[in-house]
Amino acid sequence: MIEDLLDGATYDKLRKPLREASTLPPGCYTDQAFYEREVDRLFRRHWQFVCRAEQLAQAGDFRCHDGPAGPVMLVRGDDGRIRAFANSCRHRGARLLSGAGRCKRIVCPYHRWCYRLDGRLVGAPGMTGVDDFDRVEYPLVELPVDSWAGFVFFHWQSDPPPLTQALGNFVDRFASHGCDRLQFVGELEFEIESNWKLLAENALEAYHTGAVHRDTLGQQTASALATRGDWTGLLVEDEQSVATLQGADKPFAHIEGLDSEALRGAFFTLVYPSTQFVFAQDCAWWLAFEPRAVDHTRLVIGACFPQSTVTLPDFAERVELYFERWRIATAEDNAICEQQQLGQRVERAAGRFAASEFAVHAFDNWVVDQVLAQA
Ligand code: FES
Ligand SMILES: [Fe+2]
Repeated sequence: MIEDLLDGATYDKLRKPLREASTLPPGCYTDQAFYEREVDRLFRRHWQFVCRAEQLAQAGDFRCHDGPAGPVMLVRGDDGRIRAFANSCRHRGARLLSGAGRCKRIVCPYHRWCYRLDGRLVGAPGMTGVDDFDRVEYPLVELPVDSWAGFVFFHWQSDPPPLTQALGNFVDRFASHGCDRLQFVGELEFEIESNWKLLAENALEAYHTGAVHRDTLGQQTASALATRGDWTGLLVEDEQSVATLQGADKPFAHIEGLDSEALRGAFFTLVYPSTQFVFAQDCAWWLAFEPRAVDHTRLVIGACFPQSTVTLPDFAERVELYFERWRIATAEDNAICEQQQLGQRVERAAGRFAASEFAVHAFDNWVVDQVLAQA
């Protein structure tokens, strides 16, 4: 390793203003110790998005999130509340649930300890004859949950700052999209042999679009957003929604009530550490990058549309144009990020940013801020 990746001096050139700045060194995408520091400083210490509230519509609905800091499950209780729990049995730690679904109780597949939807342990068969064992003392480990406009997040630490405080001016900037009234319609999953940051960076610049998406999206142009809080982003300017491929017809009507800036195009954001929310004129979608290993990432893309669109008689047919765009353009992005991951194995000097990579520069600086912060 040429550089010491946990030494601040390594990043002096990244810290410069954009037009003078160098990119992250390749080791930041391949080094196991740097990755583990990211898990601790980024993923254990910031709110993480999981899903829309309407994906957990009824009591007993659950959804697992196998993030880099450990498995978590979101569960809607009999009282209507969505709770997050560490997905780990209080007996000997087996993961309790997988995937998503509905259950009446959470029953461990190993020795059948049984938990209510609010986390209380109510059954522990075969534990008679054990001294001082009181089920009350072994509930599931509950984690803080918070949401904004139907987007549900959890946090590994107790007493984190409220989500809206972490989001800063994100909340006001996207208020006119009326996200609390949008309806989840479906999702896609991808597995990519790439470090999660390469995917997040790719999602934060339009520089690559004329090459990587030459025949599908075409070259896009983007301008910077004034951001405050744990996020960055750009505005891809196009009076037509960019949620369908170039030349595709019949995009859906605009969301009602968009402000004048929202009418100008699609906002591609990254809520730190690893969720891109895109707010277009006709829908919102997200790319949730879930690191699995330093060089492997799972990506979940989900989308939501206004009720007035979802209830159109030909919605199912027309929304296919959007999913086609997400499938095709995402496959193009994933493929180039896998090539980029291979190239990170060469120890070389850090490269330079283009002026249009302002949001990548902001993101990389945020990552380094967190990684280097005192514990
Ligand atoms: S590990 Fe869950 S009941 Fe034994
Ligand atoms: Fe792309």
